[in-house]
Amino acid sequence: MSKHMRAAVVIGVIGSAAIAAAIGWHKPDTSAAIPSALAADASKKPVVFTPPPDSEIPKGKFGDMIKLGENIFRHPDIYAKSYVGNHLRCSNCHLNAGRLADSAPMWAAYVAYPAYRSKNGKVNSFEQRLQGCFRFSMNGTAPKLGSKTLIALESYSYFLAKGAPTGDKLAGRGYPKLPQPALPFSYERGAVVYAQHCAACHGTNGEGQSSGGHVVFPALWGPQSFNWGAGMGSIKNAAGFVYQNMPLGLPKSLTIQQSWDVAAYIDSQVRPEDPRYLGSVAATRKKFHHTKFSMYGKTVNGVLLGQPDQAKSTPGVLPK
Ligand code: HEC
Ligand code: HEC
Repeated sequence: MSKHMRAAVVIGVIGSAAIAAAIGWHKPDTSAAIPSALAADASKKPVVFTPPPDSEIPKGKFGDMIKLGENIFRHPDIYAKSYVGNHLRCSNCHLNAGRLADSAPMWAAYVAYPAYRSKNGKVNSFEQRLQGCFRFSMNGTAPKLGSKTLIALESYSYFLAKGAPTGDKLAGRGYPKLPQPALPFSYERGAVVYAQHCAACHGTNGEGQSSGGHVVFPALWGPQSFNWGAGMGSIKNAAGFVYQNMPLGLPKSLTIQQSWDVAAYIDSQVRPEDPRYLGSVAATRKKFHHTKFSMYGKTVNGVLLGQPDQAKSTPGVLPK
């Protein structure tokens, strides 16, 4: 069995200490790196909420819809096949099937909509927000409003939010907003973090790993990953996600600086085109990616990122 396969097996069976051992990881001293922005957040005493366990899913038609929603969330490749265009799952980024706080949990999202989104300049319903994740994170097609797929996901999220207060921001919504790094983020330093802490699971070319036709570690870039329009393509979101959740089983083990750098590294790679592509990379960057947190339209090692179909032909553009 390869080292990678071994890591996959131990995750299920033994847990994080074994994962750490399997991938040769040692805990760095992060005692000096307590993020001040996160600490400040905690002092605001936001409303804490715990979603109900699956055992509380009611019997009958409504319960069946909730269960279908959870199945779609965990296995969109099976239960929402016609809408997905890559090998990712909702639960790859919204951990514990959308229950984990600080991992953009569905219960905290559910009570926060309808909400205005600058991404499309409109007040979005929860269903419309779900459509966005199909189009961008799943590199697929948005199910129609009122379709069974969206109703099921909405029912599941409604169930998870059972008893949650509305009108207050719940603690744990979204991913943590990390403080700015001490040094500007750098994909070159990120390459070193990636090789050391990520490649064993996600692969040298970010392609992820499968076993018996089943994805064990999801792709971080390339044709099977999220497209350029996705939230994870923003270095800011990716840094918060990674700090909070990665390496899997070792949350908050990277420093703030390492999290920014490795996020810059994965977000400076090739991936499927932004479906809002305007016919030129420059115009698309200007309209949708005009921020220092997006590498879309930037040239990295001589390669202009964001060209159509680039992900199919170029495995990676950065040093390993
Ligand atoms: C590649 C990672 C990724 C995948 C896969 C993914 N999402 Fe997301 N999702 C994100 C990111 C990043 C955000 C933005 C969080 C933010 O802006 O704070 C987000 C936001 C959301 C939100 C809004 C959260 C909020 O608090 O407003 C919902 C709802 C959502 N996703 C549902 C889904 C569903 C359903 C699927 C599967 C069909 C899915 N996501 C797949 C990364 C992902
Ligand atoms: C022990 C194996 C392991 C290691 C090491 C690891 N990951 Fe992951 N990663 C996973 C798994 C498994 C998931 C999906 C989680 C789930 O479905 O519950 C994931 C999900 C992700 C995702 C969201 C899904 C996607 O494909 O975009 C990102 C981004 C990510 N990891 C980045 C990283 C980075 C950066 C590192 C290194 C700092 C890292 N991971 C280290 C196993 C690992």
